[in-house]
Amino acid sequence: MKHWDKFLAPYKQAVGELKVKLKGMRGQFDLIATHSPIEFVTGRVKPIASILDKANQKGIPLDKLEEEMQDIAGMRIMCQFVDDIHHVVSLLRSRNDMEIVEERDYISHKKTSGYRSYHVVISYPVQTIQGEKKILAEIQIRTLAMNFWATTEHTLNYKYKGVFPTDIQMRLKRAAEAAFRLDEEMSLIRGEIQDAQAFFTRKKELKQEEKD
Ligand code: GTP
Ligand code: MG
Repeated sequence: MKHWDKFLAPYKQAVGELKVKLKGMRGQFDLIATHSPIEFVTGRVKPIASILDKANQKGIPLDKLEEEMQDIAGMRIMCQFVDDIHHVVSLLRSRNDMEIVEERDYISHKKTSGYRSYHVVISYPVQTIQGEKKILAEIQIRTLAMNFWATTEHTLNYKYKGVFPTDIQMRLKRAAEAAFRLDEEMSLIRGEIQDAQAFFTRKKELKQEEKD
């Protein structure tokens, strides 16, 4: 439908641009650092059927979608470690091509489902032939373990239409706890790696000093 094409055009443009920019950050880290806080980036424009379903569920009038539906443009940034998430968020805060309008920390405060992620809602200016148009976009920042859990739970949610049998629900909670422990273990290993790196760097420096 022509009306939808027109409505969704700035969102499509924003998702395209944000993919380039966020993937670009990854590329920059590859050039200057040994570790990139960004593992990979995905983005999508919400399908029309999902927009209509959500508007219906939440009682959002269709002429209020721009203001009241924050995730028509959606980005995901996947990180190796939990600490990387905070690094990425601070990088987003310091950019001047987007404005953060809301942050939701489902890492310190996980959802009852077991869902964990850091959500940032941005106002993003898209340049169009009619001038600048600011749209809302949601960026979800999560570890690979959080993403594994969320995508699996999302698929099951689809299958069971949000009403899980009790055994599945229990298993999902346990899986969420396991994902949390995996993130914790990985953070500890990361500390070990950094200690080892610092040790070898210092050893090299000392050797160099001996030579000088
Ligand atoms: P929405 O009205 O759906 O936007 O919910 P909200 O505003 O209360 O929460 P928020 O916008 O922060 O989170 C919504 C998005 O986070 C969803 O579209 C999902 O991508 C993701 N999400 C939130 N909760 C869950 C969950 O329990 N499981 C999964 N798999 N994803 C979730
Ligand atoms: Mg929301």
